[in-house]
Amino acid sequence: MKITYFGHSCLYVEQDGKRVIIDPFLSGNPQSGVSPQEIEVDAVLLTHGHDDHFGDTIEIAKRNGCPVVAVFELAMYCAKEGVQAHGMNIGGAYNFDGFRVKFTQAFHGNSYRVGDQYLYAGQPAGILLTMGGTTLYHAGDTSLFSDMKMIGDMNDIAVAALPIGDNFTMGPEDAAVAAQWLNAKRVIPVHYDTFPPIRQDAQRFASMLEERGIVCHVLKSKESVTI
Ligand code: NI
Ligand code: MN
Repeated sequence: MKITYFGHSCLYVEQDGKRVIIDPFLSGNPQSGVSPQEIEVDAVLLTHGHDDHFGDTIEIAKRNGCPVVAVFELAMYCAKEGVQAHGMNIGGAYNFDGFRVKFTQAFHGNSYRVGDQYLYAGQPAGILLTMGGTTLYHAGDTSLFSDMKMIGDMNDIAVAALPIGDNFTMGPEDAAVAAQWLNAKRVIPVHYDTFPPIRQDAQRFASMLEERGIVCHVLKSKESVTI
């Protein structure tokens, strides 16, 4: 599994010729350095509908003719925008061609914006993505929650993408506990430094994980790790 970070919470994941993108907030994020026109994928996966995750979903899905996989209410919004949508919900899994997706709970808000209104988009989620026998857990935006222990018990998590920005999500201390509870072998910190309230020292987080025997990959946008 090859994972490329495109800034904020966006990961591009490749395995055996299949490619998916999670939370493609690209054109609105000057730190991503990637334009949505460059993205070639077989699916767009969304943890929730906030602008800093939904990003360029519609454009990417339309151009690639690929589905958007999201919690039902958010998927129905995407369908209204004229893209293929595959609705799911928390606890549900589905085998797509070349990858499996299971939605987990996340403690956060969820809405999609139409003009200046924020409309209901179902529950926010985390994503367990399995490709070629390797499982990545993208926690989405969430607080620390004790069922991360259950997620860790029930899944062999090769790599976890965990938010460390604080303010809207877990901060570094809670994310380090999450990594332990998830029994994650490796961690990619996400959701930090994009905006002033979520500035963090990712290297300090990496040392906290090293003390716990967990490998931390602090990636700049467009950097990859192959596991
Ligand atoms: Ni959010
Ligand atoms: Mn967010």
